[in-house]
Amino acid sequence: MQPLLRFVHISDTHISPDPDYHRKWSAHSAQEGARALVRELNALPFTPDFVLHTGDVAYDPVPDAYETCRDILGEIRYPVYYLAGNHDDPAALQRVLLQREDDVLPFHYTFEVNGVVFACVDSNGPVEPPRGYVSDAQLTWLEGICRANDKRPMVVAVHHNALPVDVPWLDEYMPMTNAEDFHAALLPARGRLRGVFHGHVHQNTETLRDGILYSSVLSSWCQFHAWPGMTHTTADTGAEPGYNIVTLTPDQTFIRRCRFAV
Ligand SMILES: [Fe+2]
Repeated sequence: MQPLLRFVHISDTHISPDPDYHRKWSAHSAQEGARALVRELNALPFTPDFVLHTGDVAYDPVPDAYETCRDILGEIRYPVYYLAGNHDDPAALQRVLLQREDDVLPFHYTFEVNGVVFACVDSNGPVEPPRGYVSDAQLTWLEGICRANDKRPMVVAVHHNALPVDVPWLDEYMPMTNAEDFHAALLPARGRLRGVFHGHVHQNTETLRDGILYSSVLSSWCQFHAWPGMTHTTADTGAEPGYNIVTLTPDQTFIRRCRFAV
């Protein structure tokens, strides 16, 4: 098996400039979790092509938040691609963390690595957070990519969970509210779409519809439960944080779930 590429999926670092910031949901602070994550990634026994951070980089966009993010996440030894979550300020994220003079709003972009095209979608449209929404302009942009006469394998990255999963607090409180439109935009590319990678839910999940795999990852800070019928956000306080290794070959997507101690 010859891989096209390997990347690390991380999400929801929720870094605060307050080193003791942890609320009641985790045994460790967000800073401690993020620093442990960086140590883990830098000690991997192979070299990933890059790291994909699917948002909620900071918690919340208070002054100095992204300077702290840059101090911690800037230690990662590999290229990192970021999305903005509902807790982020996408302009400050780009200006301070990515040190760009001109920010892009909405914060969406594509990039290509080893012949695989990645489309990073901004799901922070006009809706009451923590819900997400993909604006008409974002959908048009995404449809153009998915309808293109393009044979390259493709990956989509987005912050919010999309499809319903029989967990009321995820389906009603947290979701991308126009998920059906988002999924419909992806359908023309399903033959070459190798996965939709998202964060926001602070747990490992997989959803498969119409041959399209949606995959989420643990947070480096706190994890949430998602039992069927659960109506309120409930921390899984004993759970370890984690990250995922994603290996793409010409005809396969392999996701390795990893956990670590802080
Ligand atoms: Fe989020």
